[in-house]
Amino acid sequence: PTIESTPMRILLLGSPGAGKGTQSSRIQKNFNIATISSGDLLRKNMANGTKIGKIAAKESERGDFVPDDIMIELITNELRFINRKNWLLDGFPRTINQAEALDETLTSRCQPINLVINLDVPEDVILQRIMDRWVHVPSGRVYNLNYNPPESFGLDDITGEKLSRRADDNPETFKVRLQKHHKLTKPLLEYYSKRNLLFTFKESTSDEIYPQIEKELLKRFGREHFKGEDSS
Ligand code: AP5
Repeated sequence: PTIESTPMRILLLGSPGAGKGTQSSRIQKNFNIATISSGDLLRKNMANGTKIGKIAAKESERGDFVPDDIMIELITNELRFINRKNWLLDGFPRTINQAEALDETLTSRCQPINLVINLDVPEDVILQRIMDRWVHVPSGRVYNLNYNPPESFGLDDITGEKLSRRADDNPETFKVRLQKHHKLTKPLLEYYSKRNLLFTFKESTSDEIYPQIEKELLKRFGREHFKGEDSS
């Protein structure tokens, strides 16, 4: 008899610059999973000059969070369009209010979260990382001049389009983003840990973390959703 595989319904948490975008694109490359990044969605809205984009530009350039009601609507709307059974949310929820609203939506759809990945990276490591970060806004692809530089300086590897620096990647704004993270997002760790959903990966050096995540995903969800090559 065939045993139906467990769908992947994953949240990715971690401080600014912890590597959420980097890990979520690797997960997406190797598993049949749709990913939604709140930061990428907001940056697309900013690039298109939408109403949400204008609010997000003001808030994120100061390092502040976008109001909960706007974020909740944006993400729950996006979740509605996902027709794949596996999904990963990167950067949402970021407050207890957002987490509760997400639970409500998912409970009504009978799709509870089954894993929360937390990337735990020392703060002295991440400031340097974000100073070296370049992004391709349309796709959300992230580069780092030291860690994963683009093949040609300033250009996206896949499309050849221009890369840009994020307006919120400067030491002053970064400090505010970290403070917000400590105050508003860290309580989420307890929220999910109480429900036995939290799995923390302590990051040390560059490429060590992804193989650990992959191993854990294969252990929990089996190989049915896997489309990559074994990294072990
Ligand atoms: P968002 O885009 O989510 O920003 P963030 O949380 O500050 O996270 P980052 O994108 O800075 O970091 P990351 O963890 O994705 O790291 P990355 O992979 O790029 O949100 C931006 C803003 O939008 C927020 O400040 C807020 O205003 C608003 N917002 C978003 N969601 C919201 C919500 N839910 N509610 C309210 N407001 C919201 O990696 C960082 C760098 O390090 C890269 O250059 C990368 O190449 C490099 N790198 C990655 N991994 C490694 C490694 N292992 N070794 C060396 N370098 C590495």
